[in-house]
Amino acid sequence: MGKRKALMAGNWKMHTTAVDGCQLAVDVASACADFTDREVLLAPPFTILSEVSHILKGRPVIIGSQNVCWEEKGAFTGEISPIMVQAAGGSAAIVGHSERRQIFGETDELINKRLRGGLSFGLLMIFCVGETLEEREAGKAFAVLYEQIKKGLADVAAPDMAKVVIAYEPVWAIGTGKTASKEQAQETHAFIRGVLEQIYEKNVAEQTRILYGGSVKPTNVDELMAQPDIDGALVGGAALDAQSFGRIINFK
Ligand code: PGA
Repeated sequence: MGKRKALMAGNWKMHTTAVDGCQLAVDVASACADFTDREVLLAPPFTILSEVSHILKGRPVIIGSQNVCWEEKGAFTGEISPIMVQAAGGSAAIVGHSERRQIFGETDELINKRLRGGLSFGLLMIFCVGETLEEREAGKAFAVLYEQIKKGLADVAAPDMAKVVIAYEPVWAIGTGKTASKEQAQETHAFIRGVLEQIYEKNVAEQTRILYGGSVKPTNVDELMAQPDIDGALVGGAALDAQSFGRIINFK
């Protein structure tokens, strides 16, 4: 089958307030051509989801949150619910980012709850996985990824996989300037697709988009996107600069 529709996602992390965030969003939207083979997603901080959605109304940009709770409402201090994301104009959410796992101690089980919660409200879910440098050097990368995927997707039914995008982000490549080589990334993406085939079936594995993340830049995006199993990018640092992200979404 042909390649899946690419998804180019910008994760703004804890950067931007209303004025600079809206400006960045508008500049990114201006860099979007009439794409038919790719989608663009922005994940601003919770505080400006509404402003960014509002200013991009009618533009072909998907808005997502950087995390999401599984409940609609309740006593969950510090959390954001799927309906809050939707009310703010969002239709997607990132879960399992390595910063959530490493800095905030989120476990596979918690991430699975977030993932299933977001799906139950119809959000497009970007589910992140990735190994640390220590794990890669010890030859454990695939075992770690297998575990994260298996546990993260527990009780996610095959039809729901249409709304799941996997983001492979080697922790050692995030914000470090070190990118996995295109061969390393392709090999790992192919492995992840194999795990999906094992959990679900060939169809699901072939249709699920697998994004690469970790120091994606204008200078490496083309070779990464040329790999058969790389279906997009989750971009941090370079997504904060409209010119860089504009070039990334216009990968050749
Ligand atoms: P980076 O971040 O592009 O700055 O490496 C990627 C991410 O953490 O999603």
